[in-house]
Amino acid sequence: MQNTMTGLELRPMPVPASVDAPVAADFVDMVRVRNLVYREISGHGDNDVTPGELLPALQPTPYVERLFWNVMWGGELVGRAGLDLPLEEGSRVGLWRVELLRAAWGRGIGTAAYEMIERIAREHGRTVLQTAAEHPHAEGARIPSPTGFGSIPHDWAARFLQNRGYRLEQVVRVSALPLDDKTYARLAELCDEARAAADGYRVVSWTVPTPTEFVAGYGAMKAAMITDAPAAEMEYDEEEWDAARVAEHDRTYVDADRTMLVTAAQHIASGDLVAFNELVIGTDLSAATSQEDTLVARAHRGHRLGMLVKCAGLLAWRDIAPASPRVITYNAEENRPMLDINEAIGFLPESYEGEWKKELT
Ligand SMILES: CC(C)(COP(=O)(O)OP(=O)(O)OC[C@H]1O[C@@H](n2cnc3c(N)ncnc32)[C@H](O)[C@@H]1OP(=O)(O)O)[C@@H](O)C(=O)NCCC(=O)NCCS
Repeated sequence: MQNTMTGLELRPMPVPASVDAPVAADFVDMVRVRNLVYREISGHGDNDVTPGELLPALQPTPYVERLFWNVMWGGELVGRAGLDLPLEEGSRVGLWRVELLRAAWGRGIGTAAYEMIERIAREHGRTVLQTAAEHPHAEGARIPSPTGFGSIPHDWAARFLQNRGYRLEQVVRVSALPLDDKTYARLAELCDEARAAADGYRVVSWTVPTPTEFVAGYGAMKAAMITDAPAAEMEYDEEEWDAARVAEHDRTYVDADRTMLVTAAQHIASGDLVAFNELVIGTDLSAATSQEDTLVARAHRGHRLGMLVKCAGLLAWRDIAPASPRVITYNAEENRPMLDINEAIGFLPESYEGEWKKELT
């Protein structure tokens, strides 16, 4: 779309089938700028991905419609915009992002990209628009989370969102754990304690693709992530995770050559999987590790299973990615039980993310 602003083009970016396809140049360029934007915000490269790692996660699926644009300014790529439309029945939600290189801020480009996104979300009948933004540490005024837990600096992104009708709903803590001898010694101790408390459960683990025997149990826990993780006033659709959805999830890691280790606790009497933790790394095994979902099923809380799956997973990780220097994880600032576990392991807060929502009228 050629915008009325001189020099601005919001160029639709179809996701190519492969990074080698002749049409993939825009996608490859988008990934380069994506990495630069995140480096500018955070000051580190922990969020870097290669085109080959990102592509499988963005390809069309039956579960979400994804729209992408490359933001061109004077013929140069300066950022990207995206809108995800979950395809759960009756979904009201649109999840969007506008991410620009710092040199392009403050010229009305973000506003133009956002206005296009809001218009398209309306055309698709979506009435709840949501986004997340990293708000790096800054001196000065802060916005408290309405949950009562955490706050973010009243920075450029916060003002941009507020001025477009968004409300901060939740603060998410980004934490890092150094993977060094001291951490591994602490993990061994914590793991022994958790094992002693978790009588009646055993640890099972796999790297994706998920073995057939665990597909149903893993799918049930992935569905519970949506309903059980603290979401404050953010709106997320309930999801059904059948075998096809687990396979689609696994494909995005396998096709990207990314390793995901799932460490689960199995209730011995019933055979049910009742807790799990995920650790992920891309093709560069000396890069940061990402800790993704962790959950203990409600009926099985209070047996130290959260600590058990985290510690057992991190201890096993040493054989998979011995050169990875640290683990990054994201937790709702009000999620005290999870933060207690992470703090005991040695995770330290690095930065904070805001979860933002607007209800269209
Ligand atoms: C947040 C972000 C998208 C804002 O984009 P931006 O292009 O800097 O925003 P704009 O220039 O359109 O608007 C910012 C302010 O500058 C004003 N502005 C400055 N120069 C302008 C111009 N020439 N024309 C129009 N507006 C201008 C806008 O009116 C706006 O003020 P307002 O909020 O009072 O209306 C951008 O800073 C960014 O990419 N940040 C990092 C990623 C991020 O946090 N994204 C947000 C969530 S996904």
